[in-house]
Amino acid sequence: MSVVAIDGPSGVGKSSTAKETARRLGYSYLDTGAMYRAMAWLCLNRGVTDPVDVLEQVRGVDLEISTDPDEFLVSVDGIDVSEEIREPEVSENVQTVSAVVDAREELIDMQRTIIAAAPAGIVVEGRDITTVVAPDAPVRILMTARDEVRVARRAKELHGNADAEALAATQSQVTGRDAKDSATTSFLEASEGVYTLDTSDIDFDQVVETVLKLVKDSQ
Ligand code: DC
Repeated sequence: MSVVAIDGPSGVGKSSTAKETARRLGYSYLDTGAMYRAMAWLCLNRGVTDPVDVLEQVRGVDLEISTDPDEFLVSVDGIDVSEEIREPEVSENVQTVSAVVDAREELIDMQRTIIAAAPAGIVVEGRDITTVVAPDAPVRILMTARDEVRVARRAKELHGNADAEALAATQSQVTGRDAKDSATTSFLEASEGVYTLDTSDIDFDQVVETVLKLVKDSQ
């Protein structure tokens, strides 16, 4: 079973790349960030912030996530939260879950179970996939892009354009989240054997082609 592990900071284009690669290869797709977001949504909803209580929520939850790159669905205890988990309030509170080491362990176990159950191969994206979740994956990629490129991409996503106002509104959000995220997982530097794919100056198709070539070369 073939695993393609993709890590990288926010705004680098991981999700669209991972999904398109999965489609082209006929593989499953796992968005691990969505699992952290779903748990953060649940904790927010229940007013849970204490790490011990967060762990209890993660241990007791029925977390379901689709691995179909064409049909995104994530649910907690039977509630579809696919849209809610993208709200800014969730993005800003993910660390309530992602900074709790034992909660991460639980989620990592779930992720490994999902990966092992994939019928063909699976493309997995996150922050610790190349290093912790699937360090033995035959293809491991760290996607990067210069800060200003990521801020512009996120501004377009959130505001529909990248004018000065949109850029200013997005700047601290993107870099602030990276700083918080990298306190928990180290994804800003590629670890040994991980291919660094700098997407700053290439378009989406070129990014996908590069990933597909890496997969082909590994087979
Ligand atoms: O990829 P994303 O922006 O949807 O991720 C949401 C949050 O979850 C982000 O703040 C980092 C965290 N995360 C993590 O700690 N480990 C992962 N494997 C994936 C995401």
